[in-house]
Amino acid sequence: MKLISPHGGVLVNREVAGADRAWLVEAAAELPALRLGARAVSDLELIATGAYSPLEGFMSEADYVSVRDHMRLANGLVWSLPITLAVTEEEAAPLRTGRDVALYQGRRLLGVLHLREKYVRDRRREAEQVYRTTDEAHPGVRAIYAEGEWLLGGRVSLVSRPENPSFSAYWKDPAETRELFRQRGWRRVVAFQTRNPVHRAHEYIQKCALEIADGLLLHPLVGETKSDDIPADVRMLSYEAILTHYYPAARTILAVLPAAMRYAGPREAVFHALVRKNYGCSHFIVGRDHAGVGSFYGTYDAHHVFDEFETEELGITPLFFDHTFYCRACGAMASSKTCPHDAGQHVTLSGTRVRELLGAGQLPPVEFTRPEVARVLIEAQRAAQPAGA
Ligand code: ADX
Repeated sequence: MKLISPHGGVLVNREVAGADRAWLVEAAAELPALRLGARAVSDLELIATGAYSPLEGFMSEADYVSVRDHMRLANGLVWSLPITLAVTEEEAAPLRTGRDVALYQGRRLLGVLHLREKYVRDRRREAEQVYRTTDEAHPGVRAIYAEGEWLLGGRVSLVSRPENPSFSAYWKDPAETRELFRQRGWRRVVAFQTRNPVHRAHEYIQKCALEIADGLLLHPLVGETKSDDIPADVRMLSYEAILTHYYPAARTILAVLPAAMRYAGPREAVFHALVRKNYGCSHFIVGRDHAGVGSFYGTYDAHHVFDEFETEELGITPLFFDHTFYCRACGAMASSKTCPHDAGQHVTLSGTRVRELLGAGQLPPVEFTRPEVARVLIEAQRAAQPAGA
């Protein structure tokens, strides 16, 4: 049973073990130290485990510029988001190219950067190209404006995993998900990215996709998200609840993607697909406004972006879904593609309305959210409220 090849052909492994690790840990004590922010911590781990194959480190200037302007690495391979290590001018000044830099999460040594290049980036241009806006109201743009202007490029070596206190049972590297797929005899595996609880629309498109695949990888992103997104620990409980009651266990795997959310819409949809290819998935679901935020992107921009690439150069097959909902007249879940009835028949709720209902302890309509999921969310809202409120 042959699974899809990783992007670029080889699953990268930049984690060191045994004597090499002991040597590097000892050497690190003498190296200049850099404390990483949450995004860089997760990127470091994802590079090291091969989730970002073929990247072996943080991007050099040639790759960065090529990705920013053409959605390709300097060697021509498709890649849509810069994966960079940003520092301030003061942090960059004492670092010498050709030398190693020790990378820390707080006081924990995570690894070493084999510094090959340091260079200055134009953050405005990056925002324009990658996010299609320079507006600081965009959380992805705000995040890069808040970072330093200097970037450090070079391969990395990971000596310790970041601390992942929660849901460790669902922490699976690409090599592990690939092994799980092999054990189950799956070849056509469809991945679903999400930063939300699974509502009926999500469930519907996952199950439509599962009809033509061997298995489903429910792969929620649990890295940094914006503050009004539902926290990952609550979401994990909601996923467990819906899987227990409504999904075939033999055809579903739940695992987490520790990446940070960029909210880069179309560019991030391509990135999300390539990363899932590395986890061994042959198909990837792209629904309405994938990885979008506010009204920065058109509803189907994340579909159209895939037209810019040939099927073979992506490798993974995107499965596109239009806006889906429950239609009372159809008496079923449907989409703007399959339903002939007018919007008055559709059960759609805004995020604000859902939050209001849950905050008042009320279940949203079952056509919108499974009650088992809603109960988890209500409970979490209660727990988050200050005592006596
Ligand atoms: S995302 O930032 O991870 O894209 P979300 O968790 O809401 O946000 O979406 C997960 C996936 O489901 C994305 O592919 C998105 O396009 C799709 N999706 C979400 N809601 C709908 C919907 N009502 N109809 C069709 N696709 C949807």
